[in-house]
Amino acid sequence: MKTRVITISDPDRQANDIMEAAQLLRSGQVVAFPTETVYGLGANALDAQAVGKIFKAKGRPSDNPLIVHIHDISVWQQLVEDIPEKALLLANKFWPGPLTMILKKSKLVPVEVTAGLDTVGVRMPAHPVALKFIAMSGVPVAAPSANKSGRPSPTTARHVMEDMDGRIPMILDGGPARVGVESTVLDMTGSVPVVLRPGGVTVEMLESAIGEVRIHPNVMKPVQKGDKVRSPGMKYVHYAPKAPVTLVRGELNRQVEFINKEAAKLENMGRKVGILATDQTLFRYQAGIKLSMGNRENPADIAGRLFARLREFDELNVDLILAEGVEEKDEGLAVMNRMARAAGFHIIDL
Ligand code: TXA
Ligand code: MG
Repeated sequence: MKTRVITISDPDRQANDIMEAAQLLRSGQVVAFPTETVYGLGANALDAQAVGKIFKAKGRPSDNPLIVHIHDISVWQQLVEDIPEKALLLANKFWPGPLTMILKKSKLVPVEVTAGLDTVGVRMPAHPVALKFIAMSGVPVAAPSANKSGRPSPTTARHVMEDMDGRIPMILDGGPARVGVESTVLDMTGSVPVVLRPGGVTVEMLESAIGEVRIHPNVMKPVQKGDKVRSPGMKYVHYAPKAPVTLVRGELNRQVEFINKEAAKLENMGRKVGILATDQTLFRYQAGIKLSMGNRENPADIAGRLFARLREFDELNVDLILAEGVEEKDEGLAVMNRMARAAGFHIIDL
């Protein structure tokens, strides 16, 4: 299959191009499209066979459910049994935006989408191309991140091409993703909402809107044998660049000192070392190939660059990556959740 990349710089003037993508989707095909978080791999959420093609293109384990994307709140009511007041409040405040809410699913949603679960995650993305694409499709769009299973999520159409060339007919290129990490996944089925995956809408933002919110323990800890897994995605290796990652946490000067020592030692052993640093610390490293994730005072900035930097280290062919940690608050929690998983929870606490 040949994969076409169509650049959309103005969704209003290029409605025909988006319509072509929407028609492919309606005919049961898989199309990649931009969102504000990361690129998605979309199929008609009401067509079990089309949804099966997503799992195939990604190599995704079939027990990992997909998020359903909508362009209008009225569609949400058809996908879930009931919308509690708090969920409605959050939708009004944060949609369109990087928040996915999990609720009991309606009969309309095929079990292939939810991987057999009786709940479904729904979100309305804040990207003009995504909204137009979903509206023109006329159906809700099931879409995981458009990477091969296990790889860093794609924040540009080029990243999608790296993973999906020859596997899907079309990629809509809407430019680089603004948020850079995936949506916050919030389980709204209990009395207190639970964050299953931190993301663009932060815990602090949720709390200021609806009060108490819990953070699932597996957000920053690996799933152990016997743990009750609330979100199947928690079980799997994620976001991993080709080289193994070591994540370093603790007081910043000690992080820099540790990474410098390790890098020097490993370079002496002939290893090609990648260092994932921040604007504030980049100049303090003497050895290794250094890339900055951005300004550590601004975790949203770091979120925006994290996945792209991990893919750059692939191209630089490093043997291993030593990564600085950031503070686990605001967007920093989502950054550290992704980094901990990219590192396979190989974390050095100083
Ligand atoms: O920002 C995003 O959410 C992106 C863009 C494309 O919208 N999508 C995305 O999808 O990140 P994906 O499939 O890569 O991640 C979805 C996560 C997985 O960890 C999955 O296990 C969890 O959400 N999830 C989906 N439905 C769920 C459900 N019903 N219950 C619990 N977890 C669910
Ligand atoms: Mg993903």
